[in-house]
Amino acid sequence: MEFDLRVGVMGLGYVGLPLAVAFAEQGHAVVGVDVDARKVDALSRGESYIEDIDPRRLRAVASRLEVTTRSSNLSRCDAVLVCVPTPLTPNREPDLGPLVNATRVLADILQRDQLVVLESTTYPGTTRERMAPILEESGLVAGRDFYLAYSPERVDPGRTDFTLRNTPKVVAGLTEACSDRAEALYREVCDEIVRLSSPEAAELTKLLENIFRSVNIAMVNEIAMLTDRMGIDIWEVVDAAATKPYGFMRFDPGPGMGGHCLPVDPFYLSWRAREFDLMTEFIELAGKINQQMPYHCVSKVERVLNDAGKAVKGSRISLFGISYKPGVGDLRQSPALKIGALLAGLGADMAYHDPYVPAVPDDELPGLAFEEALERCDLAVIVTAHPRVDHDAIADRAPLVVDLRGVTRRSRQRTTVML
Ligand SMILES: NC(=O)c1ccc[n+]([C@@H]2O[C@H](COP(=O)([O-])OP(=O)(O)OC[C@H]3O[C@@H](n4cnc5c(N)ncnc54)[C@H](O)[C@@H]3O)[C@@H](O)[C@H]2O)c1
Repeated sequence: MEFDLRVGVMGLGYVGLPLAVAFAEQGHAVVGVDVDARKVDALSRGESYIEDIDPRRLRAVASRLEVTTRSSNLSRCDAVLVCVPTPLTPNREPDLGPLVNATRVLADILQRDQLVVLESTTYPGTTRERMAPILEESGLVAGRDFYLAYSPERVDPGRTDFTLRNTPKVVAGLTEACSDRAEALYREVCDEIVRLSSPEAAELTKLLENIFRSVNIAMVNEIAMLTDRMGIDIWEVVDAAATKPYGFMRFDPGPGMGGHCLPVDPFYLSWRAREFDLMTEFIELAGKINQQMPYHCVSKVERVLNDAGKAVKGSRISLFGISYKPGVGDLRQSPALKIGALLAGLGADMAYHDPYVPAVPDDELPGLAFEEALERCDLAVIVTAHPRVDHDAIADRAPLVVDLRGVTRRSRQRTTVML
């Protein structure tokens, strides 16, 4: 079979796998590479570990999607998309280790005229200052012998209304020719391309989007801590403010931020900003407030038990929803884990129910079926409100409920306390 394009994807996680499948669905040959042999084995068996990718979609493109741990297979590709993690070090500084490793591997097999696109979220300057020099160790020159661009992934896992196809794709190459190549590539899978003048602008665009969310979530969380003391219902206030047709954008309070993006990405910018003698105070402040939220939630649980004449110690507490967001099983940096650990540290007898998380790796928190989790508990905490979980049943039947997501606010019970 003759394919129009051969597209390589490095890193088959939340970002890379959907991209690989999207190009394969457009009829292109795709080589997906991951260092995690378990992921490669699962995909080879037609099994998906990403909620957004139905195994049937994988099987439908199996003849065009080659998955492997061998990065040498990328040498045959016209374009390689780099989708590896960009975490923080324990001191909250950018850890470009996975990206540098992936780039070194690419440098060894780089071919003339290949296009390399970085999709991972990172600070402005990474593509030009960190990737290009490593790739040029191949002897090929960026912008002349091969093409290099940055295009941030904007996927929102679990979301179905905005997909790769209908979410505008920001693209910027090192040179005009690099941008041309990258734009032509993404036109295959995206309806609208937003072309920027430099990779730095594109890198910062992604960070601005995430910082915007982080700061606004922190602001409404801070107001939620205040309304708690003032005896005002934060949900009533947010619902009312959201009726304003202009000049207000709704953000809901919650137990804190999780996932790979919001708790991590803003610190890529604050780290970079220090090189330019600037302290990005909004970023630091938002991080600080959001990190306090699990502690606020635990103090709320303590107060609710106290009002009922109970101590945390010995109380049976069930957490409902422990992944960081509804509809996905991603546990990375989930505030529910922090809340569970804090309450267990105070002597509570903890368990959880989460239809998306069958077990918590390396954790003692037992996972139970919905009925079992509800039946056993003295107090239920709704931490993440997954679809198709009967939250009204929790509010009706649990002896005490702390609802951190406001999902039971309309059927409010006497025994339910909101965030
Ligand atoms: N998850 C999201 O919602 C999201 C959204 C937008 C952007 N991003 C960004 O995209 C990047 C990837 O995030 P993710 O959520 O897909 O991470 P992930 O951990 O789900 O996937 C990354 C994959 O890369 C693999 N990997 C690591 N080093 C590799 C290498 N040298 N060669 C090949 N594979 C390698 C890992 O084994 C893993 O499977 C990050 O920079 C993240 O910030 C994530």
